Amino acid sequence: MIHNPVIDAMMARKSIRKYTDQKLSDEIIETIVRAGQQAPFAAQLCSLILTRNEKIPFGAPLLFTICVDYYRLEKIMQKRNWKTVTNDLSLLVFGMQDASLMGENMVIAAESLGLGSCYLGGVPYVAGKLAEKYKLPKHVFPLVQLVIGYPDENPPLRPRYPIDFTMFEDEYPEISEEKMAEAIKVMDDGYQSQGYYKNLDAKIPLEVKKEETFDYSNYGWTEHMGRKWGQWFGSPRDLLAEFEKCGFYLTKENKPE
Ligand SMILES: Cc1cc2nc3c(=O)[nH]c(=O)nc-3n(C[C@H](O)[C@H](O)[C@H](O)COP(=O)(O)O)c2cc1C
Repeated sequence: MIHNPVIDAMMARKSIRKYTDQKLSDEIIETIVRAGQQAPFAAQLCSLILTRNEKIPFGAPLLFTICVDYYRLEKIMQKRNWKTVTNDLSLLVFGMQDASLMGENMVIAAESLGLGSCYLGGVPYVAGKLAEKYKLPKHVFPLVQLVIGYPDENPPLRPRYPIDFTMFEDEYPEISEEKMAEAIKVMDDGYQSQGYYKNLDAKIPLEVKKEETFDYSNYGWTEHMGRKWGQWFGSPRDLLAEFEKCGFYLTKENKPE
């Protein structure tokens, strides 16, 4: 693999869940946000709310709420005498693309400045509450949050699937049992050997009828994933309601005239 300062910063990044009290200067914040803005975009369908005057998860000095934002472009279009015909689902998908790319540029910029970061992904499920708190106009949806600060821990890198379980040339292959076993092993051994879930005390309890055969000595990433996606978020209803609170109507039936 080739090394240079950019690649090295990307390869050294890991989520940080403990921060020192040190504040970030306005210059650092501006640098991170400018780097975020410079990400490629479909239509700049994203904006940020910066929070630094309240208690923030992991003791971080600041928190960005990264939003899908069609509000500003809609206003600009009105000025140009254009009415939106694009459906809300499409706007949301393009907005998620833009917001995600901006967020990750910010993460890499922060890493290159010796800072740590961690995303918080539960936001869409409390979008309505956040919209009230931050006075978000309609067509602004809080997608994900990002804490940034000076790290007060130095955890090991977390594993990833093998590259041949991720990149497929020309067409999607049959995934062999062997490749699957290899991927499972890399992920489970990697998380287990660093006591990841034990340190976070993050084992998800069983909610379905299944015998409990896991404790922190054998609970790994694949079991964690199983318990998340095998037990939670069954109905799309709650999430659809949160989108609607933010003015995104994903089903035609519910859309007000
Ligand atoms: C969209 C998204 C949401 C996330 N949400 C959370 C979260 O709510 N809490 C948390 O502690 N980590 C969260 N993470 C961090 C992941 O757990 C972490 O990126 C993953 O375990 C890989 O570890 P690494 O970032 O250290 O390589 C989130 C990451 C992403 C990309």
